[in-house]
Amino acid sequence: MELVRVNNLCKTFKKHAVPAVDGVSFSVFKGEVLGLVGESGCGKTTLAKLILRLAGADKGSVYYKGMDLLGISHGEMRGMRKSLQIIFQDPYASLDPRMRIGSVIEEVFDIHKDIPSAERKSKTIELLESVGLGEAYLARMPSELSGGERQRVGIARALATDPEFIICDEPVSSLDISIQAQILNLLIELQKKKNLTYLFISHDLGVIGSICDRVMVMQSGRIVEMEKCEDVFKNPKEDYTKTLLKAVFL
Ligand SMILES: Nc1ncnc2c1ncn2[C@@H]1O[C@H](COP(=O)(O)OP(=O)(O)OP(=O)(O)O)[C@@H](O)[C@H]1O
Ligand SMILES: [Mg+2]
Repeated sequence: MELVRVNNLCKTFKKHAVPAVDGVSFSVFKGEVLGLVGESGCGKTTLAKLILRLAGADKGSVYYKGMDLLGISHGEMRGMRKSLQIIFQDPYASLDPRMRIGSVIEEVFDIHKDIPSAERKSKTIELLESVGLGEAYLARMPSELSGGERQRVGIARALATDPEFIICDEPVSSLDISIQAQILNLLIELQKKKNLTYLFISHDLGVIGSICDRVMVMQSGRIVEMEKCEDVFKNPKEDYTKTLLKAVFL
């Protein structure tokens, strides 16, 4: 089943001569992990923001289960954000340094108002446990956590609305290499358990190859190659993809 469809998305930032996203179209199917790979600055994060309406597109459309996300009101979009979540690259920047971990998660329930007050604490603990943390973390501040623990909190926060589709924007690239595998394993375990659909962004084809079903290769705002993961690795069509592959294996 087609869950998300992106049609001819375009974005040029003010004062930029070239578009950051230039006519991008693709579909994401329910339950798949779709990789998005490309060099730094090629437009990956911008594309993610356009899909979730965190930045405004100049042109194009995004459909979620047939609903035109760029055409609905802000109020309607707020409701849709429960189903469409993002996990950011930088766990240091994505948590408010003044908020305790328990409040970081409970804030999500405040916004969406769908968990009765009496159940919030137990639901928060359940979420923290699902990412390998526990009740002891409720009262901790972000500054008292390691990078890996912070990213686990970021994942718990994304899961708090019980989403169907999650964009993972380089969720492990700021982490120590020894922690990367742990967080990747957690993301994949959760994806399988909850039948989640991921758009998984990375500039590292090694990471993409280990977890994705299909992969899109992005260069200068455009998708230049889109294949099943094993095909891209066995038989890359574009010179650019070959260069990305060399960066991993040489
Ligand atoms: N808010 C913004 N205002 C102006 N230009 C921007 C803005 N955000 C991104 N850009 C520009 O758009 C282009 C694409 O940036 P983007 O962050 O999407 O790249 P990326 O592929 O995610 O890179 P990385 O792998 O380093 O995260 C870059 O040239 C960047 O400078
Ligand atoms: Mg980025």
